[in-house]
Amino acid sequence: MIDAPPPAYAGPQRVFSGMQPTNGLHLGNYLGALQKFVALQTKYECIYCVVDLHAITAGPDPNELAAKTREVAAAYIAAGVDPARSIIFVQSAVREHSELAWVFNCIARMGWLERMTQFKDKAGKHTERMSVGLFDYPVLQAADILLYKATHVPVGEDQKQHLELSRDIAQKFNNDYQAPGFFPLPEPLIQGPGARIMSLREGAKKMSKSDPSDMTRINLTDDTDAIMNKIKKATTDPLPLPESQEGLAGRAEVENLVGIYAAMSERSIDAVLREFGGKGFGVFKPALAELLAAKLAPIAAEMRRLNADPGALDAILRDGAERARAIAAPIMAEVRGRVGFWEA
Ligand code: TYM
Repeated sequence: MIDAPPPAYAGPQRVFSGMQPTNGLHLGNYLGALQKFVALQTKYECIYCVVDLHAITAGPDPNELAAKTREVAAAYIAAGVDPARSIIFVQSAVREHSELAWVFNCIARMGWLERMTQFKDKAGKHTERMSVGLFDYPVLQAADILLYKATHVPVGEDQKQHLELSRDIAQKFNNDYQAPGFFPLPEPLIQGPGARIMSLREGAKKMSKSDPSDMTRINLTDDTDAIMNKIKKATTDPLPLPESQEGLAGRAEVENLVGIYAAMSERSIDAVLREFGGKGFGVFKPALAELLAAKLAPIAAEMRRLNADPGALDAILRDGAERARAIAAPIMAEVRGRVGFWEA
């Protein structure tokens, strides 16, 4: 007889995602994640976290961490996450994240983590000098998601492998503790042209906060002049824009700019090429820069306004932490029971 498959997770659908409070957010963070955070609010219960426990894997300045944490929260709100509807909170304020990460440390296998390309990229040849926390980063990420039994996770493409690991951990927990369907296998939401925004200078490198050159990225706080200048100097080639997607093959920088235009205007690549195909960059670049400036300026202005009142941001984050804890604590209590911890 063939065994029936274990019952699938049957709980509520819930969105969870997070961003690290390191060095300000850029267009990749916005198009890969934040824009989706906003859109998903109308369909799902959403929980958005500022992941300061993850940030300390990169050893940021303790004098700046709290301010950078508030800045990311301000960016969420300025971009359109509504703190009355969605939960916005700071990871370290809900202690259960660390607690569940420990349980998951005893579920995840060394071999699974050794395959993580992001760790290999960050560590280079110096793995023995990296913190254990950096190696363990994706296990904490799995704990973030599963502490809320989140079913959907909006992220950029660079997080695909970490999401696969979260699914493997959920599955192994469910198997090891004979708890079929206890944790959902979270689905990454990665679709769309914004999922992989590349450097403005090199089409093979992703846009990143750690790139030493500021000309490679658009920061959410860049003013119109900076945006115009960066797009003007972005790498392209002498050919006009192609009429169809096939014409983007082998033109990574051009593909990236067209993708940015499509994601920012919430249109398809085909629609953008129908408008600009056959035209030169003398026409396309100013249109792209204007679009970016028009969309980002109000967000930057709102971020400045919110950052000027840290007390108001703190009140939002305190309320968010309370609401997050109200979901997390009973799930963690159930995990403790499943694992068999002593209970008074
Ligand atoms: P972080 O802060 O590095 O990135 C935040 C989000 O931005 C996306 N992203 C990009 N998307 C498109 N193009 C780019 N060039 C680009 N650069 C960054 C990332 O994919 C991410 O969605 N590990 C997570 C933080 C995290 C998390 C979580 C996410 C911790 N726990 C739980 C989801 C669920 C990260 O990459 O953060």
